[in-house]
Amino acid sequence: MRVLFIGDIVGKSGRNALFEHLPFLKEKYSYDLLIVNGENSAHGKGITKKIYESFIKAGVDCVTLGNHAFSKDTIYSFIEDADKLIRPANMNPQDIGKPVLLLEYEGCKVGIFNIYGSVFMDNVSANPFKTMEELISKYPCDIRIVDFHGEATSEKYAFMHYFKKDVQMIVGTHTHIQTADEAIHGNCAFICDVGMTGAYESVLGRDTYEVINMFYNETTSRYTVSENAGMLCGVVVDIDLQNRKAVRIERIQIKP
Ligand SMILES: [Fe+2]
Ligand SMILES: [Fe+2]
Repeated sequence: MRVLFIGDIVGKSGRNALFEHLPFLKEKYSYDLLIVNGENSAHGKGITKKIYESFIKAGVDCVTLGNHAFSKDTIYSFIEDADKLIRPANMNPQDIGKPVLLLEYEGCKVGIFNIYGSVFMDNVSANPFKTMEELISKYPCDIRIVDFHGEATSEKYAFMHYFKKDVQMIVGTHTHIQTADEAIHGNCAFICDVGMTGAYESVLGRDTYEVINMFYNETTSRYTVSENAGMLCGVVVDIDLQNRKAVRIERIQIKP
C-alpha cells in the first residue's frame, strides 16, 4: 500500500498548490491513500465545510487537524457529519469530532490517528503516549498511521521510538518546516515534520513583513496569510501489508 501524506495546507496559496500538483503526484506515485493536514486551510486558521468538501472532491481520503482545529466556529456545524475528517485525540474540546478514521484496504484494517504533542502546545487534554496506547487497544488495526501534531522534535522522536513496532507510519506536522530525517525505524516510516503546503516566500505561510515587524518591534501580530505562490511538502510511504512494515519513505518538496 502506498500512502501520500501532504503537510499543513495554509490558505489559498496552499490549496492552489495542492490542486495544481495532485494530478502529477497521482500519475508519478500511483498512491492508494491520500492524507492531508487541513488545520490551516481556511485563511491560515481552521477549516470550513466548503474547503473540506473540495479536498474530498480532489480525492483526499482523510483530512487531519491540529491546534487550529476549532478556530472557525462553523466547524461545530459539520465536523460530526464529515466522515473523513479527524481531530487531535488528546486536545480540548473533547466532546466533538473523532480522533481516528478506520478504513479497509485489500483485506487489512487501516487506522489513521491524529495525536497532539504536549510540549509548547495549547489545550492539551491528555498525555500523547497514553492516549495512543488507549487508541491502539480500543481500535484493533493491521496498519496504523499517525499524524503527530507537535512542536518539539524530542517528543516526536520519543513517540516514534515507543510506537515503532505497532505503528507503520508517523508523520510530524505543525512546525511548517520540512525536516530531512525521513527514515524507517523498526516497522515505522517516520519524518519529524513533513512541512507545509503554502506560500513559499513567507514565514510559515504568514505575511513576511508582518512577522518581521512583530519580531523587530516586539509587538503582537495579526494573522495575515501570505498570498505568494505556494510550495507543496509531503512524503510518500510504501507499507508491506503482509509483514505489517513500512519499507520506503520519500520526501516531496515542490517549489513554485
Ligand atoms: Fe499548521
Ligand atoms: Fe499547528
